[in-house]
Amino acid sequence: MPRRSPARASGAAEKLLRKIENRTAHLGVIGLGYVGLPLAVEFAQAGFEVTGIDVDERRVRELERGRSYIQDVPTADVRTLVRSGHLKATVDFSVLRRVDAVNVCVPTPLSKQRDPDVSYIVAASQQVARYLHPGMLVVLESTTYPGTTDELILPLLSATGMKVGRDFFLAFSPERVDPGNSRFNTRNIPKVVGGVTPTCTDVAVRLYRQRLDRVVPVSSPQVAEMVKLLENTFRSVNIGLVNELALMCKRLGIDVWEVIEAAGTKPFGFMPFYPGPGLGGHCIPIDPFYLSWKARASGFEARFIELAGYVNGQMPQHVVNLVAESLNRRSKAVHGSHVLVLGVAYKSDIDDTRESPSLDIMETLRERGARIEYSDPYVPSLEFAGRTLKSLPLTPTQLKRFDCAVIATAHTEFPYGMVLRYSKSVVDTRNALRGKRSSKIIRL
Ligand SMILES: NC(=O)c1ccc[n+]([C@@H]2O[C@H](COP(=O)([O-])OP(=O)(O)OC[C@H]3O[C@@H](n4cnc5c(N)ncnc54)[C@H](O)[C@@H]3O)[C@@H](O)[C@H]2O)c1
Repeated sequence: MPRRSPARASGAAEKLLRKIENRTAHLGVIGLGYVGLPLAVEFAQAGFEVTGIDVDERRVRELERGRSYIQDVPTADVRTLVRSGHLKATVDFSVLRRVDAVNVCVPTPLSKQRDPDVSYIVAASQQVARYLHPGMLVVLESTTYPGTTDELILPLLSATGMKVGRDFFLAFSPERVDPGNSRFNTRNIPKVVGGVTPTCTDVAVRLYRQRLDRVVPVSSPQVAEMVKLLENTFRSVNIGLVNELALMCKRLGIDVWEVIEAAGTKPFGFMPFYPGPGLGGHCIPIDPFYLSWKARASGFEARFIELAGYVNGQMPQHVVNLVAESLNRRSKAVHGSHVLVLGVAYKSDIDDTRESPSLDIMETLRERGARIEYSDPYVPSLEFAGRTLKSLPLTPTQLKRFDCAVIATAHTEFPYGMVLRYSKSVVDTRNALRGKRSSKIIRL
Protein backbone atom coordinates (compact mmCIF):
# COMPACT_ATOMS: atom_id res chain seq x y z
CA MET A 1 0.00 0.00 0.00
CA PRO A 2 1.42 3.44 -0.87
CA ARG A 3 2.41 5.58 2.09
CA ARG A 4 0.21 8.59 2.59
CA SER A 5 1.68 12.04 3.12
CA PRO A 6 0.70 13.81 6.36
CA ALA A 7 -2.40 16.03 6.28
CA ARG A 8 -1.72 19.57 5.13
CA ALA A 9 -4.66 21.37 3.63
CA SER A 10 -3.95 23.17 0.34
CA GLY A 11 -5.56 26.51 -0.47
CA ALA A 12 -8.09 24.64 -2.60
CA ALA A 13 -8.93 22.34 0.32
CA GLU A 14 -9.37 25.23 2.75
CA LYS A 15 -11.67 27.02 0.34
CA LEU A 16 -13.76 23.89 -0.20
CA LEU A 17 -13.91 23.20 3.53
CA ARG A 18 -15.22 26.70 4.16
CA LYS A 19 -17.96 26.18 1.57
CA ILE A 20 -18.81 22.82 3.14
CA GLU A 21 -18.94 24.21 6.67
CA ASN A 22 -21.16 27.15 5.72
CA ARG A 23 -23.18 24.92 3.37
CA THR A 24 -22.70 27.07 0.31
CA ALA A 25 -20.98 24.17 -1.50
CA HIS A 26 -22.93 23.00 -4.55
CA LEU A 27 -23.17 19.21 -4.41
CA GLY A 28 -23.70 16.71 -7.21
CA VAL A 29 -24.86 13.10 -7.03
CA ILE A 30 -24.36 10.89 -10.08
CA GLY A 31 -26.82 7.97 -10.23
CA LEU A 32 -30.17 8.59 -8.56
CA GLY A 33 -31.24 5.11 -7.51
CA TYR A 34 -31.70 3.35 -4.16
CA VAL A 35 -28.40 4.83 -2.97
CA GLY A 36 -28.04 8.15 -4.78
CA LEU A 37 -31.52 9.60 -4.30
CA PRO A 38 -31.66 9.19 -0.49
CA LEU A 39 -28.17 10.72 -0.26
CA ALA A 40 -29.10 13.68 -2.46
CA VAL A 41 -32.20 14.24 -0.31
CA GLU A 42 -30.17 14.12 2.93
CA PHE A 43 -27.67 16.71 1.65
CA ALA A 44 -30.49 18.91 0.33
CA GLN A 45 -32.25 18.68 3.70
CA ALA A 46 -29.00 19.84 5.33
CA GLY A 47 -29.38 23.05 3.31
CA PHE A 48 -26.99 22.36 0.43
CA GLU A 49 -27.92 23.00 -3.18
CA VAL A 50 -27.83 19.52 -4.69
CA THR A 51 -28.02 18.53 -8.34
CA GLY A 52 -28.63 14.90 -9.16
CA ILE A 53 -27.40 13.63 -12.51
CA ASP A 54 -28.75 10.49 -14.11
CA VAL A 55 -28.74 9.03 -17.61
CA ASP A 56 -32.34 7.89 -17.11
CA GLU A 57 -34.49 10.72 -18.42
CA ARG A 58 -37.66 9.30 -16.86
CA ARG A 59 -36.15 9.43 -13.38
CA VAL A 60 -34.94 12.99 -13.93
CA ARG A 61 -38.39 14.03 -15.15
CA GLU A 62 -40.07 12.46 -12.12
CA LEU A 63 -37.77 14.37 -9.77
CA GLU A 64 -38.28 17.63 -11.66
CA ARG A 65 -42.00 17.13 -11.03
CA GLY A 66 -41.26 16.64 -7.34
CA ARG A 67 -42.01 12.91 -7.36
CA SER A 68 -40.03 10.10 -5.73
CA TYR A 69 -39.75 6.67 -7.35
CA ILE A 70 -37.79 5.17 -4.43
CA GLN A 71 -39.94 3.59 -1.73
CA ASP A 72 -37.83 4.86 1.20
CA VAL A 73 -37.84 8.46 -0.06
CA PRO A 74 -41.21 10.17 0.51
CA THR A 75 -42.55 12.19 -2.40
CA ALA A 76 -43.46 14.95 0.09
CA ASP A 77 -39.73 15.38 0.90
CA VAL A 78 -38.73 15.53 -2.76
CA ARG A 79 -41.52 17.99 -3.56
CA THR A 80 -40.50 20.34 -0.74
CA LEU A 81 -36.83 20.26 -1.75
CA VAL A 82 -37.54 20.73 -5.45
CA ARG A 83 -39.85 23.66 -4.73
CA SER A 84 -37.30 25.33 -2.43
CA GLY A 85 -34.63 24.90 -5.12
CA HIS A 86 -32.41 22.71 -2.92
CA LEU A 87 -32.82 19.66 -5.13
CA LYS A 88 -32.52 19.62 -8.91
CA ALA A 89 -32.08 16.81 -11.41
CA THR A 90 -30.58 16.72 -14.87
CA VAL A 91 -29.19 14.46 -17.57
CA ASP A 92 -26.63 17.10 -18.46
CA PHE A 93 -23.21 16.39 -16.97
CA SER A 94 -21.90 19.87 -17.78
CA VAL A 95 -23.50 20.98 -14.50
CA LEU A 96 -20.39 19.41 -12.92
CA ARG A 97 -18.51 22.56 -13.92
CA ARG A 98 -20.34 24.35 -11.10
CA VAL A 99 -20.29 21.48 -8.59
CA ASP A 100 -17.90 21.54 -5.61
CA ALA A 101 -18.33 17.90 -4.55
CA VAL A 102 -19.77 14.93 -6.39
CA ASN A 103 -20.81 11.49 -5.12
CA VAL A 104 -20.88 8.68 -7.64
CA CYS A 105 -23.63 6.10 -6.95
CA VAL A 106 -23.92 4.16 -10.22
CA PRO A 107 -24.62 0.41 -10.53
CA THR A 108 -21.88 -2.22 -10.25
CA PRO A 109 -23.34 -5.44 -11.69
CA LEU A 110 -21.57 -8.59 -12.82
CA SER A 111 -20.86 -9.35 -16.47
CA LYS A 112 -22.23 -12.50 -18.14
CA GLN A 113 -18.99 -14.22 -17.11
CA ARG A 114 -19.67 -13.14 -13.50
CA ASP A 115 -16.76 -10.70 -13.51
CA PRO A 116 -17.09 -7.10 -12.21
CA ASP A 117 -18.74 -4.77 -14.71
CA VAL A 118 -17.21 -1.41 -13.83
CA SER A 119 -18.33 0.22 -17.07
CA TYR A 120 -20.85 2.44 -15.21
CA ILE A 121 -18.13 3.68 -12.85
CA VAL A 122 -15.82 4.34 -15.79
CA ALA A 123 -18.51 6.20 -17.75
CA ALA A 124 -19.40 8.39 -14.76
CA SER A 125 -15.73 9.03 -13.92
CA GLN A 126 -14.99 10.05 -17.49
CA GLN A 127 -17.72 12.67 -17.21
CA VAL A 128 -16.26 13.85 -13.88
CA ALA A 129 -12.78 14.05 -15.45
CA ARG A 130 -14.19 16.11 -18.29
CA TYR A 131 -15.49 18.76 -15.90
CA LEU A 132 -12.96 18.37 -13.09
CA HIS A 133 -11.84 21.73 -11.75
CA PRO A 134 -9.57 22.88 -8.93
CA GLY A 135 -11.07 22.46 -5.48
CA MET A 136 -13.46 19.63 -6.46
CA LEU A 137 -14.15 16.62 -4.23
CA VAL A 138 -15.07 13.30 -5.86
CA VAL A 139 -16.39 10.41 -3.76
CA LEU A 140 -17.19 6.98 -5.15
CA GLU A 141 -19.99 5.19 -3.26
CA SER A 142 -20.69 2.27 -5.61
CA THR A 143 -19.69 -1.08 -4.15
CA THR A 144 -16.59 -2.33 -5.93
CA TYR A 145 -13.36 -4.33 -5.61
CA PRO A 146 -10.49 -2.95 -3.50
CA GLY A 147 -8.25 -0.84 -5.69
CA THR A 148 -10.94 0.66 -7.93
CA THR A 149 -10.57 4.21 -6.65
CA ASP A 150 -6.77 4.22 -6.84
CA GLU A 151 -6.31 2.11 -9.96
CA LEU A 152 -9.29 3.10 -12.11
CA ILE A 153 -10.56 6.54 -11.11
CA LEU A 154 -7.40 8.28 -9.94
CA PRO A 155 -5.58 7.84 -13.29
CA LEU A 156 -8.63 9.17 -15.17
CA LEU A 157 -8.78 12.28 -13.00
CA SER A 158 -5.00 12.75 -12.80
CA ALA A 159 -4.79 12.72 -16.61
CA THR A 160 -6.24 16.25 -16.46
CA GLY A 161 -2.88 17.39 -15.06
CA MET A 162 -4.38 18.23 -11.67
CA LYS A 163 -2.86 16.72 -8.56
CA VAL A 164 -4.85 14.70 -6.09
CA GLY A 165 -4.79 16.00 -2.51
CA ARG A 166 -3.76 19.45 -3.70
CA ASP A 167 -5.96 20.46 -6.66
CA PHE A 168 -8.76 17.93 -6.31
CA PHE A 169 -9.79 15.39 -3.69
CA LEU A 170 -10.78 11.77 -4.15
CA ALA A 171 -12.22 9.26 -1.68
CA PHE A 172 -14.23 6.07 -1.45
CA SER A 173 -17.14 5.76 0.93
CA PRO A 174 -19.29 2.63 0.76
CA GLU A 175 -23.03 2.98 0.98
CA ARG A 176 -24.60 0.60 3.50
CA VAL A 177 -28.26 1.54 3.08
CA ASP A 178 -30.75 -1.27 3.63
CA PRO A 179 -33.91 -0.56 1.61
CA GLY A 180 -37.09 -1.09 3.61
CA ASN A 181 -35.29 -0.85 6.97
CA SER A 182 -37.39 1.49 9.11
CA ARG A 183 -34.74 1.81 11.84
CA PHE A 184 -31.53 2.41 9.90
CA ASN A 185 -31.26 4.81 6.97
CA THR A 186 -28.73 6.88 5.06
CA ARG A 187 -28.53 9.38 7.91
CA ASN A 188 -28.01 7.13 10.94
CA ILE A 189 -25.90 4.35 9.39
CA PRO A 190 -22.24 5.13 10.21
CA LYS A 191 -20.33 6.16 7.08
CA VAL A 192 -16.85 4.76 6.44
CA VAL A 193 -14.59 7.08 4.42
CA GLY A 194 -11.12 6.48 2.97
CA GLY A 195 -9.38 9.19 0.94
CA VAL A 196 -6.46 8.87 -1.46
CA THR A 197 -4.55 11.33 0.74
CA PRO A 198 -5.22 12.45 4.33
CA THR A 199 -6.54 15.77 3.00
CA CYS A 200 -8.94 13.88 0.72
CA THR A 201 -10.20 11.89 3.73
CA ASP A 202 -10.54 15.04 5.80
CA VAL A 203 -12.55 16.93 3.17
CA ALA A 204 -14.89 13.97 2.52
CA VAL A 205 -15.37 13.32 6.25
CA ARG A 206 -16.26 16.97 6.83
CA LEU A 207 -18.81 16.86 4.03
CA TYR A 208 -20.61 13.79 5.40
CA ARG A 209 -20.48 15.18 8.95
CA GLN A 210 -22.72 18.02 7.83
CA ARG A 211 -25.62 15.60 7.73
CA LEU A 212 -24.78 12.06 8.85
CA ASP A 213 -24.77 11.02 12.50
CA ARG A 214 -21.42 9.22 12.50
CA VAL A 215 -18.49 9.20 10.08
CA VAL A 216 -15.66 6.66 10.41
CA PRO A 217 -12.41 7.66 8.66
CA VAL A 218 -10.06 4.87 7.53
CA SER A 219 -6.54 5.04 6.15
CA SER A 220 -7.17 4.47 2.44
CA PRO A 221 -9.81 3.91 -0.26
CA GLN A 222 -8.77 0.22 -0.40
CA VAL A 223 -9.67 -0.26 3.25
CA ALA A 224 -13.03 1.46 2.73
CA GLU A 225 -13.70 -0.66 -0.39
CA MET A 226 -12.77 -3.83 1.50
CA VAL A 227 -15.00 -2.92 4.48
CA LYS A 228 -18.10 -3.07 2.31
CA LEU A 229 -17.04 -6.35 0.71
CA LEU A 230 -16.31 -7.89 4.11
CA GLU A 231 -19.79 -6.91 5.31
CA ASN A 232 -21.56 -8.38 2.32
CA THR A 233 -19.33 -11.46 2.12
CA PHE A 234 -20.02 -12.05 5.82
CA ARG A 235 -23.73 -12.14 5.04
CA SER A 236 -23.33 -14.30 1.94
CA VAL A 237 -21.14 -16.87 3.73
CA ASN A 238 -23.36 -17.06 6.80
CA ILE A 239 -26.49 -17.39 4.68
CA GLY A 240 -24.66 -20.10 2.71
CA LEU A 241 -23.83 -21.91 5.95
CA VAL A 242 -27.38 -21.80 7.21
CA ASN A 243 -28.78 -22.82 3.81
CA GLU A 244 -26.51 -25.86 3.89
CA LEU A 245 -27.67 -26.54 7.43
CA ALA A 246 -31.28 -26.37 6.22
CA LEU A 247 -30.58 -28.98 3.53
CA MET A 248 -28.76 -31.12 6.08
CA CYS A 249 -31.59 -30.82 8.63
CA LYS A 250 -34.10 -31.89 6.01
CA ARG A 251 -32.12 -35.11 5.49
CA LEU A 252 -31.86 -35.64 9.23
CA GLY A 253 -35.52 -34.85 9.87
CA ILE A 254 -34.76 -31.87 12.12
CA ASP A 255 -36.62 -28.55 12.04
CA VAL A 256 -33.87 -26.05 11.13
CA TRP A 257 -36.04 -23.08 12.15
CA GLU A 258 -36.44 -24.41 15.65
CA VAL A 259 -32.68 -25.01 15.83
CA ILE A 260 -31.88 -21.42 14.81
CA GLU A 261 -34.44 -19.96 17.17
CA ALA A 262 -33.01 -21.88 20.10
CA ALA A 263 -29.38 -21.13 19.13
CA GLY A 264 -30.37 -17.46 18.90
CA THR A 265 -30.98 -17.40 22.65
CA LYS A 266 -27.20 -17.54 23.21
CA PRO A 267 -26.41 -14.00 24.34
CA PHE A 268 -22.88 -13.89 22.86
CA GLY A 269 -20.88 -15.39 20.00
CA PHE A 270 -23.88 -16.28 17.84
CA MET A 271 -25.89 -14.24 15.41
CA PRO A 272 -28.90 -15.85 13.73
CA PHE A 273 -29.04 -16.06 9.95
CA TYR A 274 -31.98 -17.68 8.21
CA PRO A 275 -32.23 -20.03 5.25
CA GLY A 276 -34.28 -18.98 2.26
CA PRO A 277 -35.03 -19.54 -1.42
CA GLY A 278 -31.73 -17.95 -2.52
CA LEU A 279 -29.98 -14.60 -2.55
CA GLY A 280 -31.43 -11.50 -4.16
CA GLY A 281 -30.89 -7.79 -4.63
CA HIS A 282 -28.08 -5.72 -6.03
CA CYS A 283 -25.60 -6.48 -3.21
CA ILE A 284 -25.26 -9.90 -1.53
CA PRO A 285 -25.42 -12.10 -4.67
CA ILE A 286 -22.99 -9.82 -6.51
CA ASP A 287 -20.50 -8.03 -4.27
CA PRO A 288 -18.56 -11.08 -2.97
CA PHE A 289 -17.69 -11.91 -6.58
CA TYR A 290 -16.05 -8.50 -6.96
CA LEU A 291 -13.76 -9.57 -4.15
CA SER A 292 -13.07 -13.10 -5.38
CA TRP A 293 -12.32 -11.69 -8.85
CA LYS A 294 -9.78 -9.28 -7.40
CA ALA A 295 -8.27 -11.99 -5.19
CA ARG A 296 -7.99 -14.34 -8.19
CA ALA A 297 -6.14 -11.65 -10.13
CA SER A 298 -3.52 -11.83 -7.37
CA GLY A 299 -3.41 -15.64 -7.47
CA PHE A 300 -5.58 -16.08 -4.36
CA GLU A 301 -8.60 -18.42 -4.33
CA ALA A 302 -11.43 -17.02 -2.15
CA ARG A 303 -12.91 -20.42 -1.31
CA PHE A 304 -15.54 -19.38 1.25
CA ILE A 305 -17.01 -16.94 -1.27
CA GLU A 306 -17.17 -19.49 -4.06
CA LEU A 307 -18.64 -22.18 -1.80
CA ALA A 308 -21.28 -19.85 -0.36
CA GLY A 309 -22.12 -18.74 -3.92
CA TYR A 310 -22.54 -22.38 -4.93
CA VAL A 311 -24.75 -23.35 -1.96
CA ASN A 312 -26.89 -20.21 -2.18
CA GLY A 313 -27.20 -20.67 -5.94
CA GLN A 314 -28.71 -24.15 -5.40
CA MET A 315 -31.57 -22.89 -3.24
CA PRO A 316 -34.08 -21.93 -5.97
CA GLN A 317 -33.75 -25.46 -7.39
CA HIS A 318 -34.28 -26.88 -3.91
CA VAL A 319 -37.51 -24.88 -3.65
CA VAL A 320 -38.64 -26.29 -7.00
CA ASN A 321 -37.94 -29.78 -5.62
CA LEU A 322 -40.10 -28.97 -2.59
CA VAL A 323 -42.92 -27.88 -4.90
CA ALA A 324 -42.57 -31.19 -6.78
CA GLU A 325 -42.64 -33.03 -3.42
CA SER A 326 -45.81 -31.24 -2.33
CA LEU A 327 -47.53 -32.00 -5.65
CA ASN A 328 -46.32 -35.57 -5.53
CA ARG A 329 -48.02 -36.06 -2.16
CA ARG A 330 -51.28 -35.48 -3.96
CA SER A 331 -50.27 -37.62 -6.98
CA LYS A 332 -49.75 -34.62 -9.20
CA ALA A 333 -46.93 -33.77 -11.59
CA VAL A 334 -45.27 -30.40 -11.90
CA HIS A 335 -46.23 -30.47 -15.59
CA GLY A 336 -49.71 -29.03 -15.90
CA SER A 337 -49.90 -27.90 -12.29
CA HIS A 338 -50.97 -24.40 -11.31
CA VAL A 339 -48.52 -22.70 -8.95
CA LEU A 340 -48.90 -19.39 -7.15
CA VAL A 341 -45.70 -17.62 -6.05
CA LEU A 342 -46.20 -15.28 -3.11
CA GLY A 343 -43.65 -12.48 -3.26
CA VAL A 344 -41.37 -11.63 -6.18
CA ALA A 345 -39.39 -8.84 -4.47
CA TYR A 346 -36.08 -10.21 -3.20
CA LYS A 347 -36.93 -9.48 0.42
CA SER A 348 -39.92 -8.58 2.51
CA ASP A 349 -41.73 -5.24 2.37
CA ILE A 350 -39.79 -3.75 -0.54
CA ASP A 351 -40.46 -3.46 -4.28
CA ASP A 352 -37.04 -4.43 -5.68
CA THR A 353 -37.04 -7.57 -7.85
CA ARG A 354 -33.38 -7.43 -8.93
CA GLU A 355 -31.75 -10.89 -8.78
CA SER A 356 -34.83 -12.13 -6.91
CA PRO A 357 -34.76 -15.92 -6.40
CA SER A 358 -38.55 -15.93 -6.96
CA LEU A 359 -37.84 -15.28 -10.64
CA ASP A 360 -35.53 -18.30 -10.87
CA ILE A 361 -38.11 -20.47 -9.13
CA MET A 362 -40.85 -19.27 -11.48
CA GLU A 363 -38.68 -19.80 -14.53
CA THR A 364 -37.65 -23.34 -13.55
CA LEU A 365 -41.23 -24.31 -12.74
CA ARG A 366 -42.38 -22.85 -16.05
CA GLU A 367 -39.71 -24.82 -17.91
CA ARG A 368 -41.03 -27.95 -16.22
CA GLY A 369 -44.52 -27.25 -17.52
CA ALA A 370 -46.20 -25.53 -14.56
CA ARG A 371 -48.54 -22.61 -15.05
CA ILE A 372 -47.33 -19.72 -12.90
CA GLU A 373 -49.04 -16.73 -11.36
CA TYR A 374 -47.80 -14.46 -8.62
CA SER A 375 -49.00 -12.12 -5.93
CA ASP A 376 -46.95 -9.24 -4.54
CA PRO A 377 -48.47 -6.06 -3.08
CA TYR A 378 -45.24 -4.19 -3.89
CA VAL A 379 -44.91 -5.34 -7.50
CA PRO A 380 -48.17 -4.73 -9.40
CA SER A 381 -46.87 -6.15 -12.67
CA LEU A 382 -43.92 -8.23 -13.80
CA GLU A 383 -42.32 -9.06 -17.15
CA PHE A 384 -42.02 -12.83 -17.18
CA ALA A 385 -41.38 -15.24 -20.04
CA GLY A 386 -42.20 -12.61 -22.64
CA ARG A 387 -45.51 -11.63 -21.00
CA THR A 388 -46.68 -9.05 -18.52
CA LEU A 389 -48.07 -10.77 -15.46
CA LYS A 390 -50.29 -8.88 -13.02
CA SER A 391 -50.14 -9.38 -9.28
CA LEU A 392 -53.06 -11.51 -8.14
CA PRO A 393 -55.24 -10.17 -5.32
CA LEU A 394 -55.42 -12.83 -2.61
CA THR A 395 -58.94 -14.08 -1.93
CA PRO A 396 -60.21 -17.52 -0.87
CA THR A 397 -61.63 -18.12 -4.37
CA GLN A 398 -58.32 -17.24 -6.04
CA LEU A 399 -56.24 -19.35 -3.65
CA LYS A 400 -58.41 -22.42 -4.23
CA ARG A 401 -57.53 -22.36 -7.98
CA PHE A 402 -53.89 -23.33 -7.35
CA ASP A 403 -52.30 -26.70 -6.74
CA CYS A 404 -49.52 -25.17 -4.68
CA ALA A 405 -48.68 -21.79 -3.15
CA VAL A 406 -45.01 -20.95 -2.62
CA ILE A 407 -44.19 -18.34 0.01
CA ALA A 408 -41.00 -16.95 -1.52
CA THR A 409 -40.98 -13.50 0.15
CA ALA A 410 -42.52 -12.95 3.57
CA HIS A 411 -44.23 -9.59 3.04
CA THR A 412 -45.87 -8.50 6.29
CA GLU A 413 -49.19 -7.80 4.65
CA PHE A 414 -49.80 -11.24 3.15
CA PRO A 415 -52.87 -12.84 4.81
CA TYR A 416 -51.01 -15.99 5.90
CA GLY A 417 -53.98 -17.51 7.74
CA MET A 418 -56.09 -17.26 4.60
CA VAL A 419 -53.26 -18.61 2.43
CA LEU A 420 -52.96 -21.72 4.59
CA ARG A 421 -56.68 -22.22 4.92
CA TYR A 422 -57.59 -22.06 1.22
CA SER A 423 -54.45 -23.35 -0.54
CA LYS A 424 -54.24 -27.03 -1.39
CA SER A 425 -50.58 -27.05 -0.33
CA VAL A 426 -48.02 -24.47 0.76
CA VAL A 427 -44.24 -24.49 0.36
CA ASP A 428 -42.98 -22.08 2.99
CA THR A 429 -39.40 -20.94 2.26
CA ARG A 430 -39.37 -18.21 4.95
CA ASN A 431 -41.01 -19.81 7.97
CA ALA A 432 -43.82 -17.32 7.51
CA LEU A 433 -46.27 -19.93 8.86
CA ARG A 434 -44.25 -20.22 12.06
CA GLY A 435 -46.16 -22.08 14.77
CA LYS A 436 -48.83 -23.38 12.39
CA ARG A 437 -49.23 -27.13 12.07
CA SER A 438 -50.77 -28.64 8.95
CA SER A 439 -50.03 -31.54 6.62
CA LYS A 440 -50.42 -29.03 3.78
CA ILE A 441 -47.20 -27.22 4.73
CA ILE A 442 -43.76 -28.12 3.46
CA ARG A 443 -41.13 -25.96 5.14
CA LEU A 444 -37.72 -25.26 3.67
N1 LIG B 1 -29.56 -1.03 -3.44
C1 LIG B 1 -28.93 -1.21 -2.31
O1 LIG B 1 -29.51 -1.68 -1.33
C2 LIG B 1 -27.47 -0.83 -2.15
C3 LIG B 1 -26.96 -0.76 -0.85
C4 LIG B 1 -25.63 -0.41 -0.69
C5 LIG B 1 -24.82 -0.20 -1.80
N2 LIG B 1 -25.33 -0.32 -3.06
C6 LIG B 1 -24.44 -0.06 -4.19
O2 LIG B 1 -24.69 1.25 -4.66
C7 LIG B 1 -24.53 1.31 -6.08
C8 LIG B 1 -25.80 1.82 -6.71
O3 LIG B 1 -26.84 0.88 -6.44
P1 LIG B 1 -28.37 1.28 -6.54
O4 LIG B 1 -29.12 0.16 -5.91
O5 LIG B 1 -28.59 2.67 -6.08
O6 LIG B 1 -28.56 1.21 -8.13
P2 LIG B 1 -29.83 1.76 -8.96
O7 LIG B 1 -29.87 0.94 -10.19
O8 LIG B 1 -31.02 1.84 -8.06
O9 LIG B 1 -29.41 3.25 -9.32
C9 LIG B 1 -28.33 3.55 -10.13
C10 LIG B 1 -28.69 4.77 -10.97
O10 LIG B 1 -27.54 5.14 -11.73
C11 LIG B 1 -27.97 5.55 -13.02
N3 LIG B 1 -26.83 5.46 -13.92
C12 LIG B 1 -26.30 4.39 -14.55
N4 LIG B 1 -25.22 4.74 -15.25
C13 LIG B 1 -25.04 6.07 -15.08
C14 LIG B 1 -24.10 7.02 -15.55
N5 LIG B 1 -23.09 6.64 -16.31
N6 LIG B 1 -24.26 8.29 -15.18
C15 LIG B 1 -25.29 8.68 -14.40
N7 LIG B 1 -26.21 7.83 -13.91
C16 LIG B 1 -26.08 6.54 -14.25
C17 LIG B 1 -29.12 4.63 -13.34
O11 LIG B 1 -29.96 5.18 -14.33
C18 LIG B 1 -29.83 4.53 -11.96
O12 LIG B 1 -30.80 5.53 -11.81
C19 LIG B 1 -24.13 -0.10 -6.50
O13 LIG B 1 -22.74 -0.19 -6.54
C20 LIG B 1 -24.67 -0.95 -5.38
O14 LIG B 1 -23.95 -2.16 -5.25
C21 LIG B 1 -26.65 -0.61 -3.25
